[in-house]
Amino acid sequence: MWRGDPEGGRLEDFTVEVNEGEVVLDIIHRLQATQAGDLAVRWNCKAGKCGSCSAEINGRPRLLCMTRMSTFERADVVTVTPLRAFPVVRDLVTDVSYNYTKAREIPSFVPPAELAPGEYRMQQEDVERSQEFRKCIECFLCQDTCHVVRDHEENKQSFAGPRFLMRQAELDMHPLDAAEEQGLDRKTSAQEEHGLGYCNITKCCTEVCPEGIRITDNALIPMKERVADRKYDPLVWLGNKIRRR
Ligand code: SF4
Ligand code: F3S
Ligand code: FES
Repeated sequence: MWRGDPEGGRLEDFTVEVNEGEVVLDIIHRLQATQAGDLAVRWNCKAGKCGSCSAEINGRPRLLCMTRMSTFERADVVTVTPLRAFPVVRDLVTDVSYNYTKAREIPSFVPPAELAPGEYRMQQEDVERSQEFRKCIECFLCQDTCHVVRDHEENKQSFAGPRFLMRQAELDMHPLDAAEEQGLDRKTSAQEEHGLGYCNITKCCTEVCPEGIRITDNALIPMKERVADRKYDPLVWLGNKIRRR
């Protein structure tokens, strides 16, 4: 178990009883109750739905409440450390405010001016497409694992991370979003302000997502394609040239 604060820390060894059907969070609670009363851990639902209990187990970003102890062999040492991409507050608790800063930078859905609420109509296919992204529980495991920021603090300024590039992609493919009519270009903003170009589609984000959202294939790659289509579309190119004159 990693114990420490912003000044530094160390791994401490504990031996804890395990019962059938338990998850890593149960073991941490037993550890708090019996040997380390001051151990800091964040959690809420214990059902994989609140996204609070994110940490790293044997170096892999995971939810503590959804990782069964039966995943490990009897002789295994289970190493639990805080999310590596974010500053430590104490023990397993990290400061994830980077994510909230990025969330605030993404303009929300812009309702179409000519339709009143209740008059919106969409194809079922379009509803299902964004429904997948709406399953996000904001655990930030994808943000933690992405190599663009995992070991590169300096990239945080210009990279929103997979969770928020996915949000941009979701709104960009929303048939009723009227952002462009308001002069708000989601493709340019994803590419130029939120670092879509930094993503080299390693898919690590998709691999760790506890909701099984296909972040790379269904959000990031299509968004990259739309950005490239527009950049290399001869009509758009000609239009930009004429406008610049
Ligand atoms: Fe977590 Fe998946 Fe949402 Fe990323 S996209 S924050 S991994 S639920
Ligand atoms: Fe990072 Fe996911 Fe792209 S892990 S590099 S955002 S595919
Ligand atoms: Fe809510 Fe683990 S405690 S996701």
